[in-house]
Amino acid sequence: MDDKLFDRIIHGGDYNPDQWLNTPEIWDEDMRLMNLAHVNSATVGIFAWSLIEPQEGVYDFSCLDTIMDKLHENGKAVILATPSGARPPWLAEKYPEVLRVEENGIRNLFGVRHNHCLTSPVYREKVRNINRMLAERYKEHPALKMWHISNEYSGECHCDLCQNAFRAWLKKEYNNDIDDLNERWWNGFWSHRLNSFEQISSPVNRGENHVSALKLAWKRFVTDSHISFYENEIAPLRELTPDIPITTNFMRMYDGIDYQKFAQHLDLISWDSYPAWEKGNNEEESISVAFTHDVFRSMKGGKPFFLMESTPSLVNWHPVNKLPKPARQALSSMQAVAHGADSIQYFQWRKSRGGHEKYHGAVVDHCGHENTRVFREVTRLGKQLELLADITGSRTDSHVAVVCDWENIWAVRYFCGYNNNRRDYIKECEKWYAPFCKRGIATDVIAMDADFSKYDLVIAPFLYMLKDGTAERIEEYVKNGGTFLMTYLSALVDTDDRCYLGGFPAGNLKNVFGIVCEETDSLPENMTGKASFNGKMYDVNHVCDILHADTAAVLGTYESDFYAGTPAVTKNTFGKGAAWYAAFRNDDCLANDICQQLIAETGLVSDAAFPVPDGVQVRKRGDFLFVLNFADDNRSICLDKEYTDVLAECPCSGTVSLPECGYLILK
Ligand code: GAL
Repeated sequence: MDDKLFDRIIHGGDYNPDQWLNTPEIWDEDMRLMNLAHVNSATVGIFAWSLIEPQEGVYDFSCLDTIMDKLHENGKAVILATPSGARPPWLAEKYPEVLRVEENGIRNLFGVRHNHCLTSPVYREKVRNINRMLAERYKEHPALKMWHISNEYSGECHCDLCQNAFRAWLKKEYNNDIDDLNERWWNGFWSHRLNSFEQISSPVNRGENHVSALKLAWKRFVTDSHISFYENEIAPLRELTPDIPITTNFMRMYDGIDYQKFAQHLDLISWDSYPAWEKGNNEEESISVAFTHDVFRSMKGGKPFFLMESTPSLVNWHPVNKLPKPARQALSSMQAVAHGADSIQYFQWRKSRGGHEKYHGAVVDHCGHENTRVFREVTRLGKQLELLADITGSRTDSHVAVVCDWENIWAVRYFCGYNNNRRDYIKECEKWYAPFCKRGIATDVIAMDADFSKYDLVIAPFLYMLKDGTAERIEEYVKNGGTFLMTYLSALVDTDDRCYLGGFPAGNLKNVFGIVCEETDSLPENMTGKASFNGKMYDVNHVCDILHADTAAVLGTYESDFYAGTPAVTKNTFGKGAAWYAAFRNDDCLANDICQQLIAETGLVSDAAFPVPDGVQVRKRGDFLFVLNFADDNRSICLDKEYTDVLAECPCSGTVSLPECGYLILK
């Protein structure tokens, strides 16, 4: 499918006209307001099942027909959702098996949303049926431009159907060989040798919860269940609307599903971004959000993604819901576009009158008119996005990648040992991503099975688990001239969390890195060690490996404890490339300082030809250079030459002052 799905940035959001059936005059008012706000799209039908199938087999599309037509008449693209995220009460009443069974073994009652069994044949059939009805009805409708499958797939079900499906999945995965499974799960430990697959159940608190291989298998199974549930959902859509792209909305770094695997089944990635602005360190949060954009963009090799949801003002689900500052949403939206988003969409268009989310931010407030700060800001952004229409479809080309792997998120969480209190895997990945983000160097964030060869530098923090073939691919990459950095506790286990024998890092990586790791020390919260790198001192926080350097050059050593004087940072030349090992965790500037050297050695260049002040992010996409101020006050940008200020539509040069939440888009 083409990278350029639209010739404009999609600007819109979740639209729930079905909540206003008794005041349908509001629908025309919505159209008037959408036109005013430069909104060009609406996502409809997400939770509309009880509207379109009020009773089993009884369908009523009159409201949806009217809305689709109105949106089309007003030139809006419709992103049509399938309604499986929440089911009508009749369905749960008649077929209790569709309801989810929680980890405690108790079946939920009807209520909330996302409360369904992923395996239930009845639910799958009902979903397929309603999706077919939708596709039949709207396949020729000119407003239909994209499918939005369900909503934020998540959670898991522990019912008997799922347990049986899990056993069948395991049989396939372990070649129907229980001895093989026993060996790979190391079931001799604590007398857990199984006689048959029928003795296995999902990991739960009151049952088996200490076998990490089981927990990993369960996560993989839950991922595959979601994928097959999704494939079931889209079958009628692919058949009836083969040209309409399909996505489902992901949630930040949600780890209940392996998004990197799921991504391969989507035509494009979309995700819902709700940063915690004004709640702590905005600058840190902005890097974390940039990281997440790059995670999602990298899932499809740099192809643009959709920002399916964001709030135009506040949310309602934090314990305390602080209003983001004026212009924060616009800044945040421009950051998304800079990182590859071809849409800026909101949850939600209009605040609902009742229900759980009535105090959640929306473009249109309860007052119902356009004379609000939020409406004005959305309108301003809508106009600006129109000036960026040419950007759609453009990919980002990165020469550096940080590995942040979904399976490794799980593996790092499940093992017991060393510092059990502090793992922070994703934060560690963000820490090694930040130096590039701060310098305006485009970065991908990839799974460990992605192709390394297109990068000059690959950084893999805490690469605890190695999937089959990863060690060989790292070796190949370095041999051919790549630079690869790993940090502490890397290359320890296989995909069943079984340790590699013969010393760490696993296998031939000892030669690639020119080191052997013999022990690992852990430090409690109130204790820090010391280590030096390039003559500068650093704290050792939480965890550190104790190494022998074999062929590696020692660039840093420990300066405290009984291992003082032993290697703490090493670099090994291997083939045409280099393999670095940072053996300790540091919560301050070690990552920055090492990356500074790596950037120089690998010749990575910034998107900015001018100095990037602290708190500012610069990112090039297509012909556009985004300069975004996430600092808590003004920043001066000293431009290297004359540019065109795309939003002001005038030349721009010299020193430019950017206020807090300010942004410049240059050409
Ligand atoms: C999303 C969800 C929306 C809405 C929103 C509120 O996670 O998809 O339906 O609930 O959160 O922030």
